[in-house]
Amino acid sequence: MARITPPEIVAKKQNGEKITMLTAYDYSMAAMIDQAGVDMILVGDSLGMVVLGYESTVPVTMEEMLHHAKAVSRGARQALVVGDMPFMSYQVNPEDAVKNAGRFIKEAGCQAIKLEGGIEQAQTIEAIVKAGIPVVGHIGLTPQTATALGGYKLQAKDAESARKLLDDGRAVAEAGAFALVIECVPSGIGKAVSESVHIPTIGIGAGPHCDGQVLVTNDLLGMFEKFTPKFVKKFADLSPIIKDAFSRYVDEVKSGEFPDEEHSFPGGDSLLQSYDA
Ligand code: KIV
Repeated sequence: MARITPPEIVAKKQNGEKITMLTAYDYSMAAMIDQAGVDMILVGDSLGMVVLGYESTVPVTMEEMLHHAKAVSRGARQALVVGDMPFMSYQVNPEDAVKNAGRFIKEAGCQAIKLEGGIEQAQTIEAIVKAGIPVVGHIGLTPQTATALGGYKLQAKDAESARKLLDDGRAVAEAGAFALVIECVPSGIGKAVSESVHIPTIGIGAGPHCDGQVLVTNDLLGMFEKFTPKFVKKFADLSPIIKDAFSRYVDEVKSGEFPDEEHSFPGGDSLLQSYDA
């Protein structure tokens, strides 16, 4: 099957077909997500928190993102791979933004990029789209600027900020983005933005009315224990299972139970008999 394209993602909204997106940071996970039929794989800068152990997404660099995006691209055959532009790779000026966006496509094999921000990023989105690079926008709770927003909190809680979110969504769509992530807003606001833009909205904590959904894979699998936002559904709880496997490994190596015959190559005892060590 051929790889999904941005126009096909847009067509899904027109046909009322829900869109799926998950994050991945390495080859093996990308391959499994791809095989499960997920439409888009986001190499999110959540990499910083769930894989690299940073306190936030702010320290993540272009080089770190590209390194992981390359691995994801090698694992994904059908899903559209979106590279997440890290903090300060697009905020300084549109020229730098276009160059850095281009690196995700040329060096890492992604098919699109994502960046955070609304009206204030419209010009940058336009420049990247003009360079021929498909863009996914991201509004609502934007983790790179969470400090300025007062922390990892529900956004668009009053009429003024709800109107601003609507304006941001329209600006991103008019600037040429082909999809829009909306993070951590009340369901009614997710619905209003989805109805007011022609491009698909991909919600994360933005309710059931968005055109698609995205989750951080490590959250969905129950593999990130530091905190779990309210909008995360754990489709599996792997942390205890993984820790149990590690403990049993330690016990079996210590007791000599592993490796047993089944996991060893028999023979070899006589090969060095005449060799005088
Ligand atoms: O970095 C990321 O994983 C994201 C998702 C939360 C949408 O931006």
